[in-house]
Amino acid sequence: MTYAILLYPHANKRYYESVKILGVNELKILTAYFVPEVTNIRFENIGGLELLVFEAAELEEKEKKILYSLSSNFALFELRENNYLNPIMQQRANYFKEDISNILKYKGKTNESFTDLMINIGVFSSDFYGDFDKALSILDPMCGKGTTLFQALIKGYNAAGVEITKNYYTEFENFIKRYFQFHRYKYESSNASFSHEGKKKGNKVIFETADTIENYKKKERRTLQYVNGDTKDTYLFYGKEKFHVIVTDLPYGVQHSSTGASQFVKIDDLLNNSMEGWARTLKKGGTIVLAYNNYTLKKEQLEKILTKYGLSVFSEGVYNEFVHWVEQAVNRDIIVAKK
Ligand SMILES: C[S@@+](CC[C@H](N)C(=O)[O-])C[C@H]1O[C@@H](n2cnc3c(N)ncnc32)[C@H](O)[C@@H]1O
Repeated sequence: MTYAILLYPHANKRYYESVKILGVNELKILTAYFVPEVTNIRFENIGGLELLVFEAAELEEKEKKILYSLSSNFALFELRENNYLNPIMQQRANYFKEDISNILKYKGKTNESFTDLMINIGVFSSDFYGDFDKALSILDPMCGKGTTLFQALIKGYNAAGVEITKNYYTEFENFIKRYFQFHRYKYESSNASFSHEGKKKGNKVIFETADTIENYKKKERRTLQYVNGDTKDTYLFYGKEKFHVIVTDLPYGVQHSSTGASQFVKIDDLLNNSMEGWARTLKKGGTIVLAYNNYTLKKEQLEKILTKYGLSVFSEGVYNEFVHWVEQAVNRDIIVAKK
């Protein structure tokens, strides 16, 4: 049978060309376990509408659910004779409302759809792909104001983050509380702090919530945890083998070090100091997905650091085809590795 996906439109036409590259690659990874395999993936212009089209056996319910989790999927259709598009909508279901991720707008935010794609690539490249619709645990060790955490919660995952900027932590805590209250989501929150060898290392806020009041009462909840601290202390904040997937959009260029705003560390030094802790918090069979600007960081550098800490980098086929234009100074790529 022939299926067609209408990708989310994008106001910036040049970025939409990037969305198309990402959409094809994500589709290949998400459908890698379909039997028989999905074939003839291409773009087709149907009655003036550009659609991502492919051939597959009649889709099972779980497969429809997978296709609806594709980050750029706006609508899925069965394509019949004479360009008749039959919509398949019944599997579109988020655990949490999408606006939790859209409300905050700020400089340096990673776009929601790209963040969603990184989570999907991580889950479907891990040994836990069969549990993609269960409550997996996702960590963003450089989480900014929390886009990854929100996208993970929308998908029904537990989410955790680490961020060095104190203001972001305060904003995150305030925003979440207001958001839950406004939408009448039931929640519980608590705080923790961390020190090591007599030195204060970080503060954590933990939220527990659920999609419905009934599930909340039954304790079928999800957790959102956010630490204000240095990512090199991730292991101290979260502990051994806690996460199925680690996802982060790496900072571009030089970064503030934890010892003071006036000092800077290079991104590869930062990664060399942090990767061991990240790898230790990852479950065996779990994956790390890193997005980076390939004008300022090379894949070989990242590959070396990931390999040094026992992670196997996916370097075949589609995993080498993610490089895409974002803006003049940013050509973005993704690297994926498994523990
Ligand atoms: C590209 S931004 C991530 C943006 C995030 N995805 C969002 O949408 O808000 C990278 C983040 O890494 C943070 N960062 C840089 N050095 C860090 C460190 N040593 N520990 C923790 N976070 C750090 C920066 O403050 C920045 O917020």
